[in-house]
Amino acid sequence: MAENLFDLTGQVAVVTGASRGLGQYFSRALGRAGAKLIVTSRKAGDCDAFIAELAAMNIEAKALVLDVRDEASIKAFAEAAPKQFGKVDILVNNAGMNIRKRALEVTWDDWNAILDTNLRGPFFVAQAIARHMIAQGYGRIINVGSVTSVRGSAGLGPYGASRGGIKQLTMSLADDWGEHGITVNVLAPGWFKTNQNKAMYEDEGWVEYLVERIPMKRPGAPNDLDGAVVFLASEASRYVTGQTILIDGGISVGATRALVKK
Ligand SMILES: NC(=O)c1ccc[n+]([C@@H]2O[C@H](COP(=O)([O-])OP(=O)(O)OC[C@H]3O[C@@H](n4cnc5c(N)ncnc54)[C@H](OP(=O)(O)O)[C@@H]3O)[C@@H](O)[C@H]2O)c1
Repeated sequence: MAENLFDLTGQVAVVTGASRGLGQYFSRALGRAGAKLIVTSRKAGDCDAFIAELAAMNIEAKALVLDVRDEASIKAFAEAAPKQFGKVDILVNNAGMNIRKRALEVTWDDWNAILDTNLRGPFFVAQAIARHMIAQGYGRIINVGSVTSVRGSAGLGPYGASRGGIKQLTMSLADDWGEHGITVNVLAPGWFKTNQNKAMYEDEGWVEYLVERIPMKRPGAPNDLDGAVVFLASEASRYVTGQTILIDGGISVGATRALVKK
């Protein structure tokens, strides 16, 4: 029988920030492909309902507490993670946040909150988990980026800086850890309705504006990310590293749209 390049049976995946939103989409996809899961939230108990949902899908999962802005929390988490199922093969650095403000309104604290959560945190989580991956000679690190990893946007200055930073960081980590059998890539989602942006989706005019700019003519749906996360977590991507894969219905290619009348 041909090798199933996308089978994650026997693999252990950590998904940070899985108490809601995209972290849960990624977890379900990896679990359905056969992985055991370690899911995280800042508050103990916030992943309990999700663990029960996964159990009903026959997906084995455990929860750990992790605040990526807190060095001690990252250390405790990194020590506990490999003990849950004996190892960690896959890390999805998903935990993140956003504050939408035009540049003149951004405060010092806004900047720190966004950059600490979306760039410094994922770096130190990856560093801590990579120590285990290096010891086992294998790993898949998937850093979550965004369309703002490659495009600018008013109101998203610090967020875009964090997402552009994660793209650059990923290339350096790929170079650093490739010799240990570890791949490091960015999965960059386009527009998906979650807690982070639900207020925007309540504005019909904005949704119309958005959809007009997406070549596939719709926002992202939960399962649209499944293929990419399983690909980057599996043998299928064994020679892919340092790359940024946009799952965005094509919105990132639309920069010249205004120049051409359709
Ligand atoms: N939704 C989109 O369209 C979209 C597009 C591109 C990229 N993204 C990125 O995808 C990721 C998930 O986004 P989402 O839309 O699912 O957001 P969300 O619904 O707001 O969920 C964010 C998750 O991150 C966790 N988190 C926040 N701050 C944290 C911290 N300091 N330490 C540890 N965990 C923390 C939250 O967990 P607790 O609050 O339970 O701790 C929560 O589980 C983010 O990195 C986001 O920037 C989202």
